[in-house]
Amino acid sequence: MAACLDGRCDGSGFLFDEETRRAYSCSCRPRLQARKRANAVAGRIPKAFRGVSFDREPVPSLRAQYPHVLRRVQVYCDTISEQLERGRGLWFTGDLGTGKTTLAMLISKTAMERDHTVAIYSLPRLLSMLRETFRDDSAHSLNQLIDMLCSVDLLHIDDVGAEQTSPWVLEQLYTVVNTRYEDQRSIVLTTNLIKAERKRPAKLSPDDDWDERPDAELRAQIGERTVSRLYEMCEDPLPMFGDDRRPEMQFNVPEPVAAAHRTPDPFDDTRWEDDGPRYGQPRR
Ligand SMILES: Nc1ncnc2c1ncn2[C@@H]1O[C@H](COP(=O)(O)OP(=O)(O)O)[C@@H](O)[C@H]1O
Ligand SMILES: [Mg+2]
Repeated sequence: MAACLDGRCDGSGFLFDEETRRAYSCSCRPRLQARKRANAVAGRIPKAFRGVSFDREPVPSLRAQYPHVLRRVQVYCDTISEQLERGRGLWFTGDLGTGKTTLAMLISKTAMERDHTVAIYSLPRLLSMLRETFRDDSAHSLNQLIDMLCSVDLLHIDDVGAEQTSPWVLEQLYTVVNTRYEDQRSIVLTTNLIKAERKRPAKLSPDDDWDERPDAELRAQIGERTVSRLYEMCEDPLPMFGDDRRPEMQFNVPEPVAAAHRTPDPFDDTRWEDDGPRYGQPRR
Protein backbone atom coordinates (compact mmCIF):
# COMPACT_ATOMS: atom_id res chain seq x y z
CA MET A 1 0.00 0.00 0.00
CA ALA A 2 1.33 3.47 -0.91
CA ALA A 3 2.15 5.85 1.95
CA CYS A 4 -0.47 8.39 3.11
CA LEU A 5 -0.35 11.59 1.03
CA ASP A 6 -0.60 13.63 4.26
CA GLY A 7 1.63 11.38 6.34
CA ARG A 8 -1.20 10.58 8.75
CA CYS A 9 -2.80 7.17 8.02
CA ASP A 10 -1.29 3.87 6.92
CA GLY A 11 -2.15 4.61 3.28
CA SER A 12 -5.62 3.02 3.49
CA GLY A 13 -7.40 6.41 3.69
CA PHE A 14 -8.69 5.61 7.19
CA LEU A 15 -7.50 6.51 10.67
CA PHE A 16 -8.34 4.30 13.59
CA ASP A 17 -9.18 5.81 16.96
CA GLU A 18 -8.05 3.29 19.61
CA GLU A 19 -10.12 4.87 22.36
CA THR A 20 -13.48 4.86 20.64
CA ARG A 21 -12.43 1.86 18.51
CA ARG A 22 -13.81 3.56 15.42
CA ALA A 23 -12.36 4.26 11.99
CA TYR A 24 -12.78 7.63 10.33
CA SER A 25 -11.70 9.12 7.01
CA CYS A 26 -8.20 10.53 6.73
CA SER A 27 -7.69 13.94 5.06
CA CYS A 28 -5.94 12.12 2.18
CA ARG A 29 -9.00 10.01 1.32
CA PRO A 30 -10.61 12.22 -1.39
CA ARG A 31 -7.28 12.46 -3.23
CA LEU A 32 -6.66 8.75 -2.72
CA GLN A 33 -10.02 7.94 -4.31
CA ALA A 34 -9.38 10.35 -7.20
CA ARG A 35 -6.05 8.65 -7.80
CA LYS A 36 -7.67 5.21 -7.79
CA ARG A 37 -10.23 6.41 -10.32
CA ALA A 38 -7.50 7.85 -12.51
CA ASN A 39 -5.60 4.56 -12.38
CA ALA A 40 -8.72 2.64 -13.31
CA VAL A 41 -9.20 4.89 -16.34
CA ALA A 42 -5.58 4.55 -17.33
CA GLY A 43 -5.96 0.80 -17.27
CA ARG A 44 -8.88 0.65 -19.64
CA ILE A 45 -8.68 3.52 -22.12
CA PRO A 46 -6.23 2.64 -24.93
CA LYS A 47 -2.95 4.43 -24.40
CA ALA A 48 -3.27 6.72 -27.43
CA PHE A 49 -6.49 8.20 -26.03
CA ARG A 50 -5.73 8.41 -22.31
CA GLY A 51 -5.07 12.15 -22.36
CA VAL A 52 -8.23 12.97 -24.30
CA SER A 53 -10.11 15.97 -22.89
CA PHE A 54 -12.29 18.87 -24.06
CA ASP A 55 -9.49 21.39 -23.72
CA ARG A 56 -6.72 19.41 -25.43
CA GLU A 57 -6.09 18.93 -29.13
CA PRO A 58 -7.57 17.53 -31.27
CA VAL A 59 -10.89 18.23 -29.48
CA PRO A 60 -10.83 22.08 -29.84
CA SER A 61 -10.11 21.61 -33.58
CA LEU A 62 -12.95 19.12 -33.80
CA ARG A 63 -15.22 21.66 -32.10
CA ALA A 64 -14.36 24.23 -34.78
CA GLN A 65 -14.94 21.70 -37.55
CA TYR A 66 -18.06 19.96 -36.21
CA PRO A 67 -19.72 22.47 -33.81
CA HIS A 68 -23.06 20.66 -33.82
CA VAL A 69 -21.47 17.29 -32.98
CA LEU A 70 -19.37 18.77 -30.19
CA ARG A 71 -22.42 20.44 -28.65
CA ARG A 72 -24.11 17.04 -28.43
CA VAL A 73 -21.00 15.44 -26.94
CA GLN A 74 -20.60 18.26 -24.42
CA VAL A 75 -24.22 18.03 -23.23
CA TYR A 76 -23.95 14.23 -23.06
CA CYS A 77 -20.77 14.40 -20.96
CA ASP A 78 -22.12 17.17 -18.70
CA THR A 79 -25.14 15.00 -17.90
CA ILE A 80 -23.43 11.61 -18.22
CA SER A 81 -25.01 9.94 -15.18
CA GLU A 82 -28.51 10.92 -16.24
CA GLN A 83 -27.84 9.78 -19.84
CA LEU A 84 -26.59 6.40 -18.65
CA GLU A 85 -29.47 6.07 -16.23
CA ARG A 86 -31.91 6.56 -19.12
CA GLY A 87 -29.99 4.27 -21.48
CA ARG A 88 -29.32 7.07 -23.96
CA GLY A 89 -26.37 6.61 -26.31
CA LEU A 90 -24.57 8.38 -29.13
CA TRP A 91 -23.12 7.17 -32.39
CA PHE A 92 -20.68 8.74 -34.77
CA THR A 93 -20.34 8.09 -38.47
CA GLY A 94 -18.02 9.46 -41.15
CA ASP A 95 -14.82 8.92 -43.04
CA LEU A 96 -11.68 7.37 -41.59
CA GLY A 97 -9.47 9.56 -39.42
CA THR A 98 -11.94 12.36 -38.68
CA GLY A 99 -11.96 12.05 -34.88
CA LYS A 100 -14.86 9.67 -34.20
CA THR A 101 -12.92 7.36 -31.90
CA THR A 102 -11.44 10.38 -30.12
CA LEU A 103 -14.91 11.67 -29.19
CA ALA A 104 -16.20 8.23 -28.23
CA MET A 105 -13.16 7.79 -25.95
CA LEU A 106 -13.87 11.20 -24.42
CA ILE A 107 -17.34 9.94 -23.48
CA SER A 108 -16.01 6.64 -22.08
CA LYS A 109 -13.37 8.44 -20.06
CA THR A 110 -15.94 10.87 -18.65
CA ALA A 111 -18.17 7.94 -17.65
CA MET A 112 -15.28 6.16 -15.90
CA GLU A 113 -14.29 9.32 -14.07
CA ARG A 114 -17.83 9.46 -12.66
CA ASP A 115 -17.44 5.87 -11.42
CA HIS A 116 -19.54 4.21 -14.09
CA THR A 117 -18.51 0.84 -15.49
CA VAL A 118 -17.48 0.89 -19.13
CA ALA A 119 -16.43 -1.80 -21.61
CA ILE A 120 -14.60 -0.69 -24.75
CA TYR A 121 -14.18 -3.04 -27.71
CA SER A 122 -13.57 -2.67 -31.39
CA LEU A 123 -16.28 -4.57 -33.24
CA PRO A 124 -13.78 -7.04 -34.76
CA ARG A 125 -12.47 -7.81 -31.24
CA LEU A 126 -15.98 -8.14 -29.82
CA LEU A 127 -17.06 -10.52 -32.58
CA SER A 128 -13.95 -12.65 -32.21
CA MET A 129 -14.53 -12.92 -28.45
CA LEU A 130 -18.07 -14.12 -29.09
CA ARG A 131 -16.77 -16.60 -31.65
CA GLU A 132 -14.06 -17.86 -29.31
CA THR A 133 -16.52 -18.84 -26.58
CA PHE A 134 -16.93 -21.99 -28.67
CA ARG A 135 -13.36 -23.04 -28.09
CA ASP A 136 -12.53 -25.52 -25.31
CA ASP A 137 -9.85 -23.24 -23.86
CA SER A 138 -12.07 -20.14 -23.92
CA ALA A 139 -11.69 -17.93 -20.82
CA HIS A 140 -15.46 -17.68 -20.39
CA SER A 141 -18.70 -19.15 -21.66
CA LEU A 142 -20.96 -17.39 -24.12
CA ASN A 143 -23.44 -16.62 -21.33
CA GLN A 144 -20.78 -15.13 -19.09
CA LEU A 145 -19.53 -12.92 -21.89
CA ILE A 146 -23.00 -11.75 -22.84
CA ASP A 147 -23.85 -11.06 -19.18
CA MET A 148 -20.72 -8.96 -18.86
CA LEU A 149 -21.45 -7.03 -22.06
CA CYS A 150 -25.02 -6.42 -20.94
CA SER A 151 -24.29 -5.39 -17.37
CA VAL A 152 -21.75 -2.56 -17.77
CA ASP A 153 -23.21 0.96 -17.55
CA LEU A 154 -21.74 1.89 -20.94
CA LEU A 155 -20.76 -0.35 -23.83
CA HIS A 156 -18.47 1.40 -26.31
CA ILE A 157 -18.20 -0.41 -29.67
CA ASP A 158 -15.58 1.15 -31.88
CA ASP A 159 -14.93 0.79 -35.56
CA VAL A 160 -17.99 -0.93 -36.94
CA GLY A 161 -16.77 -1.53 -40.48
CA ALA A 162 -16.98 -4.07 -43.23
CA GLU A 163 -15.51 -7.43 -42.33
CA GLN A 164 -16.20 -11.13 -42.58
CA THR A 165 -18.62 -12.46 -40.04
CA SER A 166 -21.22 -15.18 -39.62
CA PRO A 167 -24.98 -15.19 -38.97
CA TRP A 168 -24.41 -16.89 -35.58
CA VAL A 169 -22.06 -14.15 -34.41
CA LEU A 170 -24.44 -11.44 -35.61
CA GLU A 171 -27.25 -13.11 -33.68
CA GLN A 172 -25.17 -12.86 -30.50
CA LEU A 173 -24.45 -9.21 -31.25
CA TYR A 174 -28.17 -8.60 -31.63
CA THR A 175 -28.78 -10.30 -28.27
CA VAL A 176 -26.30 -7.92 -26.63
CA VAL A 177 -27.72 -4.78 -28.27
CA ASN A 178 -31.34 -5.81 -27.72
CA THR A 179 -30.80 -6.80 -24.08
CA ARG A 180 -29.16 -3.45 -23.43
CA TYR A 181 -32.04 -1.72 -25.19
CA GLU A 182 -34.58 -3.52 -23.01
CA ASP A 183 -32.63 -2.83 -19.81
CA GLN A 184 -32.08 0.82 -20.79
CA ARG A 185 -28.30 0.61 -20.86
CA SER A 186 -26.33 2.92 -23.09
CA ILE A 187 -24.20 2.23 -26.14
CA VAL A 188 -21.65 4.52 -27.79
CA LEU A 189 -20.57 3.42 -31.25
CA THR A 190 -18.40 4.57 -34.15
CA THR A 191 -18.73 3.44 -37.76
CA ASN A 192 -17.80 4.42 -41.28
CA LEU A 193 -20.72 2.49 -42.79
CA ILE A 194 -23.33 5.24 -42.75
CA LYS A 195 -22.70 7.56 -45.66
CA ALA A 196 -23.82 11.12 -46.28
CA GLU A 197 -25.55 9.79 -49.42
CA ARG A 198 -25.42 6.68 -51.58
CA LYS A 199 -25.60 7.55 -55.25
CA ARG A 200 -26.76 4.79 -57.57
CA PRO A 201 -23.68 3.73 -59.61
CA ALA A 202 -24.05 4.68 -63.27
CA LYS A 203 -23.03 1.19 -64.44
CA LEU A 204 -25.98 -0.44 -62.65
CA SER A 205 -28.77 -1.51 -65.01
CA PRO A 206 -32.32 -0.37 -64.17
CA ASP A 207 -33.20 -3.98 -63.22
CA ASP A 208 -30.50 -4.20 -60.54
CA ASP A 209 -31.50 -3.58 -56.95
CA TRP A 210 -29.93 -0.60 -55.27
CA ASP A 211 -30.52 0.31 -51.64
CA GLU A 212 -30.06 4.06 -51.53
CA ARG A 213 -30.55 4.45 -47.79
CA PRO A 214 -27.41 6.11 -46.35
CA ASP A 215 -27.11 3.30 -43.78
CA ALA A 216 -27.59 0.42 -46.26
CA GLU A 217 -24.02 -0.82 -45.75
CA LEU A 218 -24.37 -0.88 -41.98
CA ARG A 219 -27.67 -2.76 -42.24
CA ALA A 220 -26.08 -5.30 -44.56
CA GLN A 221 -23.08 -5.67 -42.23
CA ILE A 222 -24.66 -6.03 -38.78
CA GLY A 223 -28.30 -6.69 -39.59
CA GLU A 224 -31.51 -4.67 -39.87
CA ARG A 225 -32.80 -5.43 -36.38
CA THR A 226 -29.58 -4.42 -34.63
CA VAL A 227 -29.45 -1.15 -36.57
CA SER A 228 -33.09 -0.35 -35.71
CA ARG A 229 -32.33 -0.81 -32.01
CA LEU A 230 -29.33 1.48 -32.31
CA TYR A 231 -31.52 4.25 -33.76
CA GLU A 232 -33.86 3.91 -30.82
CA MET A 233 -30.99 4.18 -28.32
CA CYS A 234 -28.74 6.70 -30.06
CA GLU A 235 -31.10 8.63 -32.39
CA ASP A 236 -29.54 10.05 -35.55
CA PRO A 237 -25.84 9.28 -36.03
CA LEU A 238 -23.57 12.30 -35.62
CA PRO A 239 -21.93 13.01 -39.00
CA MET A 240 -18.15 13.51 -39.13
CA PHE A 241 -17.24 13.55 -42.79
CA GLY A 242 -14.00 15.08 -43.97
CA ASP A 243 -10.35 14.47 -44.70
CA ASP A 244 -8.35 11.77 -42.96
CA ARG A 245 -6.25 13.58 -40.34
CA ARG A 246 -3.99 10.65 -39.67
CA PRO A 247 -1.41 10.96 -42.48
CA GLU A 248 -0.39 14.40 -41.13
CA MET A 249 0.78 12.67 -38.00
CA GLN A 250 2.47 9.82 -39.82
CA PHE A 251 4.60 12.14 -41.95
CA ASN A 252 5.91 13.89 -38.89
CA VAL A 253 9.25 12.01 -39.08
CA PRO A 254 12.51 13.23 -37.49
CA GLU A 255 15.06 15.25 -39.51
CA PRO A 256 17.46 13.03 -41.48
CA VAL A 257 20.63 12.33 -39.55
CA ALA A 258 24.00 13.10 -41.25
CA ALA A 259 25.68 9.89 -42.43
CA ALA A 260 28.33 8.79 -39.96
CA HIS A 261 30.76 7.56 -42.64
CA ARG A 262 31.55 9.31 -45.88
CA THR A 263 31.20 7.03 -48.89
CA PRO A 264 34.83 6.37 -49.99
CA ASP A 265 35.82 8.24 -53.13
CA PRO A 266 37.11 5.54 -55.57
CA PHE A 267 39.33 8.13 -57.32
CA ASP A 268 40.99 9.36 -54.16
CA ASP A 269 44.33 7.49 -54.35
CA THR A 270 45.62 8.97 -51.10
CA ARG A 271 43.36 6.50 -49.25
CA TRP A 272 44.46 3.35 -51.03
CA GLU A 273 47.08 2.47 -48.53
CA ASP A 274 44.76 2.10 -45.54
CA ASP A 275 41.94 0.59 -47.57
CA GLY A 276 43.67 -2.79 -47.94
CA PRO A 277 44.07 -4.67 -51.22
CA ARG A 278 42.28 -3.34 -54.29
CA TYR A 279 41.42 -5.31 -57.41
CA GLY A 280 43.88 -4.64 -60.19
CA GLN A 281 46.53 -3.31 -57.79
CA PRO A 282 49.64 -5.25 -57.01
CA ARG A 283 49.82 -6.43 -53.38
CA ARG A 284 52.51 -4.66 -51.46
N1 LIG B 1 -9.77 17.61 -36.63
C1 LIG B 1 -8.60 17.05 -36.27
N2 LIG B 1 -7.50 17.82 -36.11
C2 LIG B 1 -6.32 17.26 -35.77
N3 LIG B 1 -6.14 15.96 -35.54
C3 LIG B 1 -7.19 15.16 -35.66
C4 LIG B 1 -8.47 15.65 -36.03
N4 LIG B 1 -9.31 14.60 -36.08
C5 LIG B 1 -8.59 13.51 -35.75
N5 LIG B 1 -7.33 13.84 -35.48
C6 LIG B 1 -6.27 12.89 -35.14
O1 LIG B 1 -6.31 11.91 -36.13
C7 LIG B 1 -6.15 10.61 -35.55
C8 LIG B 1 -7.34 9.74 -35.88
O2 LIG B 1 -8.47 10.11 -35.12
P1 LIG B 1 -9.59 9.04 -34.72
O3 LIG B 1 -10.41 9.63 -33.62
O4 LIG B 1 -8.97 7.72 -34.47
O5 LIG B 1 -10.41 9.01 -36.09
P2 LIG B 1 -11.55 8.00 -36.59
O6 LIG B 1 -12.00 7.19 -35.44
O7 LIG B 1 -12.60 8.92 -37.13
O8 LIG B 1 -10.92 7.17 -37.68
C9 LIG B 1 -5.93 10.81 -34.08
O9 LIG B 1 -4.56 10.78 -33.82
C10 LIG B 1 -6.53 12.19 -33.82
O10 LIG B 1 -5.86 12.79 -32.73
MG1 LIG C 1 -11.96 5.09 -35.21
